[in-house]
Amino acid sequence: MATAMRPGRVDQPRDGEAFLPPGFFDAFPSLERDRERLGPVLHRTDTPLFLVDTRILAERYREVERALARRSARSAIAYSFKTNYAVAESRLLGELGAWAEVVSGREYRLARGLGHPGEEIVFNGPHKRDDELLLALTEGALIHVNDREELERVLELRMAHHGRARVGLRVKADLPGVEPSRFGLSLEDGEAAAAVARMLSVPGLAPAGLHLHLRGDTDDPGHFRKAARRVARLLAHGGPEGGRLRVRSLDLGGGFPAHGPRPRSRRTWDPRPIGEYVDAITGELSPALAHEDGPTLILEPGRYLVADAIVFVSTVLRARRSGNGQLVTVDGTVTMLPLTHYCPQIARLFTSDLLPRRDSSLPSTVLGSSCRENDVLYSGPLPPAVRGDFLVFYAAGAYNSSLSPEFIFDAPPVLFA
Ligand SMILES: Cc1ncc(COP(=O)(O)O)c(C=O)c1O
Repeated sequence: MATAMRPGRVDQPRDGEAFLPPGFFDAFPSLERDRERLGPVLHRTDTPLFLVDTRILAERYREVERALARRSARSAIAYSFKTNYAVAESRLLGELGAWAEVVSGREYRLARGLGHPGEEIVFNGPHKRDDELLLALTEGALIHVNDREELERVLELRMAHHGRARVGLRVKADLPGVEPSRFGLSLEDGEAAAAVARMLSVPGLAPAGLHLHLRGDTDDPGHFRKAARRVARLLAHGGPEGGRLRVRSLDLGGGFPAHGPRPRSRRTWDPRPIGEYVDAITGELSPALAHEDGPTLILEPGRYLVADAIVFVSTVLRARRSGNGQLVTVDGTVTMLPLTHYCPQIARLFTSDLLPRRDSSLPSTVLGSSCRENDVLYSGPLPPAVRGDFLVFYAAGAYNSSLSPEFIFDAPPVLFA
């Protein structure tokens, strides 16, 4: 219980809200403004539930698209499926033109089932079975090989196959200030160059593309710039006889900070508009990208597209005073919001008529309704809660539902508003 906290005003910034971009609360369906529309939806369906604002989803996608269009002749946005499967299944991003980024055979089959043609699937991940690789090779997906062992397997499978194979290489860069990744072929120790040379030694084969995804929690566009520079260096000298390496795609991954709270791992947090990250990448790769017949620049955003487009709505089951604060129990559980370990939550209280409670706030602990003692969804100030109120958790779209086990209760439904 956060007993050290003094009662304060509800509009004071709270832990999870200190680093939010201006206008954050105007963007997600202002529940109050849209109460005529959302009230019936919320009263028709039992909480807890996830509520998706499709307008924000589309706007985030278009922001990335606009940023890419400014600097790259050809580009593609491959939505990282694992960030939120319900969004993938809604087909909304696919209808806007998004490709699919998948990291397992299961996700690959999901993408095909949703209608993505092989050519518009980027198949990443450290574990791809032979049968899954063969299917992806046959269907013309872009496979990013993770390591030397996988490369040898792909080369062997390719021998037996005469389709539209597109095989690229995942590479990694050692950058100051960024935790090293365990995935991909190292650019520093010659592993990536050796894999390129291995592919070029096979008659009729060359890497279709290069892929680099920075390890998470990076807010500095400079890190993306440096990563792109390392990729550009390999392109400049990694080709036949130390010359230029020509590829059909350059994929700089995802990892762009979402509109949401500061990760707990970071003391400072200064997320920039998405265009700054895209410019940092394209600036380094521009000699290759400027040509009409140059490679397609692929980005694989996940959290940027979905985080703030989705809220988690729970209902207050009981609230009681405790010390100088309150204990509030809701019908959700922390397993439905597992990212509470990753970043502080942004919680706001509404009456059952979707009017925001603005009264002065109390130090509050929000407990989930499972039988676990440590089922705590939020600690921080909240106005006094009343049974039947809605407690809404903002920026809940990324990774929560895909990482949550079905534990004790059914998985919360996902509503698209
Ligand atoms: C290879 C790859 N691409 C894209 C993503 C999406 O990252 P984010 O949700 O940070 O944009 C991930 C996430 O871990 C990833 O591993």
